[in-house]
Amino acid sequence: MTQHYRITLLPGDGIGPEIMAVAVDVLKAVGKQLDISFEFLEALMGGAAIDETGEPLPEATLELCRSSDAVLLAAIGGYAWDSLPRHQRPETGLLGLRSGLGLFANLRPARILPQLVDASSLKREVVEGVDIMVVRELTGGVYFGQPKGVFATETGEQRGVNTMAYTEAEIDRIGKVAFETAQKRRYGRPDGSPLLCSVDKANVLEVSQLWRDRITKLAEEYPDVELSHLYVDNAAMQLVRAPKQFDTIVTGNLFGDILSDAAAMLTGSIGMLPSASIGSSRPGVFEPVHGSAPNIAGQDLANPLAQVLSAAMMLRYGLDQPEAAERIEQAVLQVLDQGDRTGDIISPGMRQLGCRGMGEAVVQALG
Ligand code: IPM
Ligand code: MG
Repeated sequence: MTQHYRITLLPGDGIGPEIMAVAVDVLKAVGKQLDISFEFLEALMGGAAIDETGEPLPEATLELCRSSDAVLLAAIGGYAWDSLPRHQRPETGLLGLRSGLGLFANLRPARILPQLVDASSLKREVVEGVDIMVVRELTGGVYFGQPKGVFATETGEQRGVNTMAYTEAEIDRIGKVAFETAQKRRYGRPDGSPLLCSVDKANVLEVSQLWRDRITKLAEEYPDVELSHLYVDNAAMQLVRAPKQFDTIVTGNLFGDILSDAAAMLTGSIGMLPSASIGSSRPGVFEPVHGSAPNIAGQDLANPLAQVLSAAMMLRYGLDQPEAAERIEQAVLQVLDQGDRTGDIISPGMRQLGCRGMGEAVVQALG
């Protein structure tokens, strides 16, 4: 029986539309093979939406997202919108999408592909085999805590305030996602028990002490998972010193923002990394970790593979279609094995393709 899904596409700004076009072609091709049909709906977000409507996330966009099974986002932002007031910036639209859809869990994998080890700025022996999943809390913490704002003090001085706060329920639900992710990643693999490292700043912050206490308590329900705790400064250091010690990392919104960039850069090629943002029900939002790269937009230079791998994450984590996800991931590995590269990951002896050419190579590799 044909499976049918409504997918909202948010191509956004810069290279967004080009890489999105590639991902759509790849989804159509895999859909044909596995009897999955996609209805693609497109909506405005980010700078493109600001130009049309004055807002980075128009209500109509949020509505369309809510009515679909999954949302595939490309990239938003650019110099043109950087100096607008905060409520009109592309980033504010992204935060609105996350909170509007209740996407409290952000999964950011950072895996060093054997074909691209030399792209890392770290030594081969440090990064070879690294395969990390950062589970970042996405709708709480200091990004959303109240009070927030810039207020005048009694003396008339301006004072900026944000509040880092987590409730037990918020910690527990991201904790569950993390423990289960750790289990799934090691399931059926010979390399030992699931590993989860929880990152906080419990030596200084009360909110982190509560975080640590709840995660420790939750661990009783997952006796097969080996849980450790690190302070965030030490975690940052360990990530660049000996990244292979990590498998799954769980942390709050701000620490996750920072650590996921560090983990991503271990791979040396941010153009390869997808992410998934999920809540307690559909739709999730799936997007590359990289930005909109306005400097190369419209020149057929962008690397579409993070977008393609985001479509694979959408199939796996958003639509429960692991086989389709697997096929896409295998096709990406195959084109890399063939020596196909976009400019950002080119090395001597490899064949340089543009964004469209890389998309065609992936579709062909799907068979
Ligand atoms: C990210 C980004 C966003 C964040 C910005 C653009 C709001 O850095 O997705 O990591 O801080 O969450
Ligand atoms: Mg970030």
